[in-house]
Order: sequence, then structure tokens, then C-alpha cells
Amino acid sequence: MIYLIGNWKMAPEKNTQVADLIKKTNDIAKLYKKTLTTIVCPPAIFLPTAIKGAKVPLLIGAQGVAASDAVAQTGLMSAAMLKDTKAQYVIIGHSEMRARGDSNATVKEQLTRLCEKKLLPIVCIGEKSRDAQGWYLSEVKEQLETIFTGLTPLQAKKVIIAYEPVWAIGAKAERAATPAECREMTIFIKKFLTDLYDEKTAKAVVIVYGGSADEFNAKSFIEEGGAQGFLVGRVSLDAKRFGLLAKSIS
Ligand code: PGA
Repeated sequence: MIYLIGNWKMAPEKNTQVADLIKKTNDIAKLYKKTLTTIVCPPAIFLPTAIKGAKVPLLIGAQGVAASDAVAQTGLMSAAMLKDTKAQYVIIGHSEMRARGDSNATVKEQLTRLCEKKLLPIVCIGEKSRDAQGWYLSEVKEQLETIFTGLTPLQAKKVIIAYEPVWAIGAKAERAATPAECREMTIFIKKFLTDLYDEKTAKAVVIVYGGSADEFNAKSFIEEGGAQGFLVGRVSLDAKRFGLLAKSIS
């Protein structure tokens, strides 16, 4: 199965737009259900609308969770609240959340809260920039170590890792990564997991690519990049393009 995950970030603005986009995304999920697992992650305030509108096989996820269950956290949402919406997945560790202050330690706490509530984590990792000597690999290794240390193989197997090089994300991205750059990282991650656990566990952890993924480059990330799917930002808000992306990899 290839994972196609839409990260809607802070869009759209209205419930009616959410309902419409979910309807169109339902069609995409249904059309390609033999090869794709399609998940969309709308802003939390729209989760009820999205969940009401989502038809099998479309799945719904959330964006972010509080690192602790303490009530005195104005503006945050607990894992219990997200669980109650019936969302199944939660994105954590996104570079836009890290830029607002989430450290590796915070991401680990969030992951623990998700595991406790049996919510499925989509954990983003990725280097801020690249250097010719390969030091960026140690940045990613540190992220991986924090995420997986202490997780049982059973918990680890449920994690979706989204490899998102920070420089490739969003409208200000330099460019998308190349399939070769993605391939290097998927091998690096699998090797890390094999060393920490075993080959079987490493194989079960899904690694998706994110960062300017679109209907033109997606196929090469699957064929040459070792990616098992995508975390898609901008293109997931345009049902036509998201459908074309789905078609290109199905
Ligand atoms: P993008 O965003 O596809 O718009 O680059 C990806 C992401 O931030 O998850």
C-alpha cells in the first residue's frame, strides 16, 4: 500500500469548503483504494465536519497534540480530545511546529501521548539544510533516536515517518528533494531501525516523503526514491491536482 496523506495545515477557512474538499477527496480515495491508503489532516476545528463527510476508505487525521495532559494549556488539544473526534492519525514533529518551539523532547512526549490513546502517529523528521560532508545525517539521526528510543517493536511498527527536508517544504521551498536524496534517507532510516530493532520491524515502518511533492514528481519518489507514499501540503488542497497525484502513483 502507498500512503497518500494530505496536510491541510491552516486551510481552508470555512466549514463549507471543508465539506466540499472532503467530498472530492472521498472520490479520489475510492477510485484508487486498491493501491492507496488516503488520509487527510484538516485543522482541528474542522475535524467533526471532515469525519462526518469522510466515507470509507478515506481516513482522517489531526495536526498536533499537547505534550502533556495538564489542563492548564491554553490553546492546545489533548490526545483524549483528538481520540474523541474519531480521528485516527496525528501529525507531529512537523517543521512548522518545530519552528514554533517543539523540540525533539516535545515530539517524544507527544508521541507517548498518542501511543497511550492508540492514535496513529505521523512523525515528521528532516534536516534544515544540506552540506556536502553529510552532517545533516546526524541531525536526522538525533530525531530518529528521540522518536524510537523506548518504543517497543509493536509501537514502532505503527509509526509513519514523514521524511520532509525543511528546505523542500512550502511555497518558499528551494526545490523538492531529488529521488536520489530521498533514497539515501530512506536507506539511512531503515538501517537505523534495523540496528535498533531488527529487519522485520524496520520493514514495517512506513516512510513517506514530503516537501513540494506534486503530480509531476511523485512517481519518481516511489520508483527511485524508496518512498512508500507522501505527506502533501499545498497540492492536497486542490482536489484536481491531488487526484492527478494519486493517479500518477496508483
Ligand atoms: P508542501 O508541504 O507539499 O506544500 O511542500 C508539505 C508539508 O509541509 O507537509
